[in-house]
Amino acid sequence: MTYDEKLRKQAYDAIENHQGMVKKDLYYPTYHIAPPVGLLNDPNGWIQWKGTYHLFFQWMPFHSGHGAKFWGHFSSEDLVNWTLEPIALTPSQWFDKSGCYSGSAVSVDEKLKLFYTGNVKNELGQRETYQCTAESVDGITFTKTGVKIDLPEGYTPHFRDPKVWAYKGRWYMVVGAQTDNEVGAVAFFESNDLDSWTHRGILTKADQDPLNNLGYMWECPDLLELNGQNVLLFSPQGLQADGIDFNNQYQSGYVVGKLDYEKAELSHGGFIELDRGFEFYAPQTTLDDYGRRILVAWMGVPDQNESAQPTIANGWVHQMTLPRELTLVDGKIYQTPLNEMEQLRACESIEQSVSKELATSISRGSEIQIEGEISTIELFNYTTLSYDKNTELLTMERPSYVDGSLETRSCRLPQGLYHLRIFVDHSSLEIFVNYGEEVFTSRIFADVFEDSIRVQGRVNVQAWDLKNDTIQVG
Ligand code: FRU
Repeated sequence: MTYDEKLRKQAYDAIENHQGMVKKDLYYPTYHIAPPVGLLNDPNGWIQWKGTYHLFFQWMPFHSGHGAKFWGHFSSEDLVNWTLEPIALTPSQWFDKSGCYSGSAVSVDEKLKLFYTGNVKNELGQRETYQCTAESVDGITFTKTGVKIDLPEGYTPHFRDPKVWAYKGRWYMVVGAQTDNEVGAVAFFESNDLDSWTHRGILTKADQDPLNNLGYMWECPDLLELNGQNVLLFSPQGLQADGIDFNNQYQSGYVVGKLDYEKAELSHGGFIELDRGFEFYAPQTTLDDYGRRILVAWMGVPDQNESAQPTIANGWVHQMTLPRELTLVDGKIYQTPLNEMEQLRACESIEQSVSKELATSISRGSEIQIEGEISTIELFNYTTLSYDKNTELLTMERPSYVDGSLETRSCRLPQGLYHLRIFVDHSSLEIFVNYGEEVFTSRIFADVFEDSIRVQGRVNVQAWDLKNDTIQVG
């Protein structure tokens, strides 16, 4: 048995040994992607290839912490029903033995090609980083094709998460980086053939206007086009909280501007946070066959309190967000649930116009839409959302899963609050505000038997019970 085969067998055994425990956990989501066992973090290799959507994920099958990551793999024909596929990558080679870290996928010559970071901790305990490839002809079985990029001069080994795309017949790549003087940056590469790559320099970095002091490391960059403009998404580490902004341990956000491919220069505006909730990190996008720019993110944040997550007792931790469509409106990204998400509706549970207050019960796998003059929503006797007209702030409050103390996240809504679309999935909430102007993404560890909702305001409320059999994990 090769080392790769041994790792696969151990991972499949881990799934089998824990399946009962994981699936029986009433916090386990029923329509979001979550790990079959162990820890899931970043979405990777997100692509629609030959019609089928493929979403890979950073995966530690052996325990609910970080370590030498695998690439797990889900596929879907319709973005609603997902199937767990065989393991795509194991940390089995000299160049990726401490983890097949995050990366992306492209379609080329009838093949599905993956780019990922080979993370190595050497005998001296030092980090090494290699940008590697693997490929598949059937989209299921992947063969590693080795190291394509060694660490260029000017960076520390915190250099990872290649995102590759094509533009006017050439290939381009951005890599998350830290410069020698410990400033977060995005490195830019170019290639004719996906094998040999030229380092074109740094696209932008944290000590450069208008991004002063934007952290010591940037992870998971993604360069995309929305509405004729370039958007650089990334996840900077080391930002100071600033009023209602940057309140999580690490952030995800974007700058909008113009990439000059010839000069390898990105001119751009300031950094905008992408999500206003507690758990959202490492988003990745893809352009699907219908021309939609679709984002998926890890519903988590690398956090020193991660080990306090209550699901760890049941052998798993973290989940993905729903796929969301991005649009750019006046220089700001709007995120909306895909139309396909309506297929999740099993039956309508509420349709009511409310003059002051509604108190009722809902299922923990629900979609809720609220329209009108909304003042407060309370869910599961655990979390509240309230809008203050004077400050224009919408605030979410929940007890911390570490010590129960109340914690809040807020966003400003200059046009007021007039619409909410909320997806609840057992221990998660995605709250789309004003048709995607802002989103709060968070985990909720409310009492599993609590099913209450309380809405205050002059509103119309509609809710649906959602299907609970759309994710097949074995
Ligand atoms: C982001 C990240 C990436 C890295 C991966 C390792 O959450 O730290 O930079 O590739 O996770 O699992």
